Amino acid sequence: MKRNVKLISPERFSAPYHIDKQKLTNAAKAACDKLRARVERDGPMFPVSTCSKNFRYQPLGDNANWVSGMYTGCFWLAYELSGDDFFKNVAEEVHLPTYVHRYENKIELDDHDVGFVYMPGCVAAYKTTGNPLAKKTALDTFDYYFNTSYSKEGKFIIRQHTGYRRGGEYAYRTMMDSMMNATFFFWAGETTGNAEYTKAGEDHALTTEKYLIREDGSSFHHYQFDLKTHEPRFGLTFQGHADDSCWSRGHAWGVYGFPIAYSYTKNTIFKEVHRSITYFMLNHLPEDMIPYWDYDFTDGDEPRDSSASAISVCGLLEMAKQMDDSEPDKKIFENAAAMMLDALIDKCADLTDATDGLIKFVTHARPQKQGLNECAPYGDYFYLEALLRFLKPEWKKHW
Ligand code: GLY
Repeated sequence: MKRNVKLISPERFSAPYHIDKQKLTNAAKAACDKLRARVERDGPMFPVSTCSKNFRYQPLGDNANWVSGMYTGCFWLAYELSGDDFFKNVAEEVHLPTYVHRYENKIELDDHDVGFVYMPGCVAAYKTTGNPLAKKTALDTFDYYFNTSYSKEGKFIIRQHTGYRRGGEYAYRTMMDSMMNATFFFWAGETTGNAEYTKAGEDHALTTEKYLIREDGSSFHHYQFDLKTHEPRFGLTFQGHADDSCWSRGHAWGVYGFPIAYSYTKNTIFKEVHRSITYFMLNHLPEDMIPYWDYDFTDGDEPRDSSASAISVCGLLEMAKQMDDSEPDKKIFENAAAMMLDALIDKCADLTDATDGLIKFVTHARPQKQGLNECAPYGDYFYLEALLRFLKPEWKKHW
């Protein structure tokens, strides 16, 4: 679809914006120190819940939900930021065996979010140290995922949640979140040379572009298809404000997911759609640069979702990295990313013992009343990745 989305205030993002290197270094050090201190206090196991409650990640337990991967991923990112073996040891010696166990026992693997688990949790181990067990486990898991969660007829990653029905329909649908799960397809295709995997990832991204991204650059959270004919039916929401609104974190998965799809495929449709959805996001950022939980809100007292900002910063930088200096959007994306990260450091980073996470103001699921203005491992993960991308632009992504 051709979209003609424009930046409402291009002047807001066109002036060069610089974050002082020392400020970035201090923010990264403080985050790594906090992560280490918490593990020394509470142990290295995984948050049982997907977000904090009263800012605490306890109880801790097994590697068993979709945020486990981002939790382990924090240790890989902290290792790259600090060079401290403490983080590598947690990720490789304590966490990696849990990914093997999770695959062997098929724990929560009949799920759309397996890419969120295995890319930052297990593929990152292989990418960082070349660990052969990490590579084998990730590829074995991908094979299972490909055969259970991908619809070859529909050409999309199926949202696995059979208990959720709407309007009497079986929930045969896909969702914005799976733009990040598609990264598992691209990595598996590149690593094995199996073009079928890469094609499936590309087809998923094309399906998302066609049905979930609206003409104005906003996104549906979910999109329903007909179970028998695989024909498109309608868009709807699960975590957003309304079926026709734009849930901020879901949108952010596209702001980062499409540049990754572009990096593996060079399909220019992904670059085009990324510009539209990024302009939509930038047009809906409040004055203080911290998004509300849904882009229906641009001021007032609704909860924020700082994780949507952290994810989007990584997406802006990933796309900018692949752009030519002569493309005006490159500077816009870099300036916006710097403005957004600076706001995260100043207004959301919390380095006190009062919270377990690294950034506050993450809203997990407002309609379900889960985690409003709290912390979450995915907020921590993308905050660390954003800092790493600024401090080490040569860093090779774990996705
Ligand atoms: N499943 C990803 C999210 O809630 O953002």
